[in-house]
Amino acid sequence: MKTNEELLNIAKEASKNAYCVYSKFPVGACVLYSGGNYYAGCNIENSSFGLTLCAERNAISTAIASGETGQIVKIAIYSPASKMCFPCGACRQWLNEFEKGQNIEIILEDEDGNCCSFTANELLPYNFRLNMI
Ligand code: THU
Repeated sequence: MKTNEELLNIAKEASKNAYCVYSKFPVGACVLYSGGNYYAGCNIENSSFGLTLCAERNAISTAIASGETGQIVKIAIYSPASKMCFPCGACRQWLNEFEKGQNIEIILEDEDGNCCSFTANELLPYNFRLNMI
């Protein structure tokens, strides 16, 4: 299993691939699954701004497209443009979609360059859920 520091370093590497020609705000993410597999993602912007894909959703999409069937355990998020790069509301809701009682850990780099972490429930309490499934 990758450590929090390793996941953050993979997110840092992924941020170098960001396509962020409009905002100049690169973001990288690395999501760790219960079986130990991990997947990286970066943000991909679009001239039609609303179509921009965040790094976190890119990483989760890559996991699913790769056939991942485990549970999300942790996700590290990094931006060289901002310390403590918290996930946006849409990405919090995406994480919630795949949260099955395991309280996903969200790892960020703090002001001193150290890892710090929050739980998905801390960042999105009282989240929306369809009561269908
Ligand atoms: N961004 C992410 O990749 N993840 C987030 O959680 C928040 C924002 C990206 C989207 C856009 O390309 C840039 O950061 C500035 O908003």
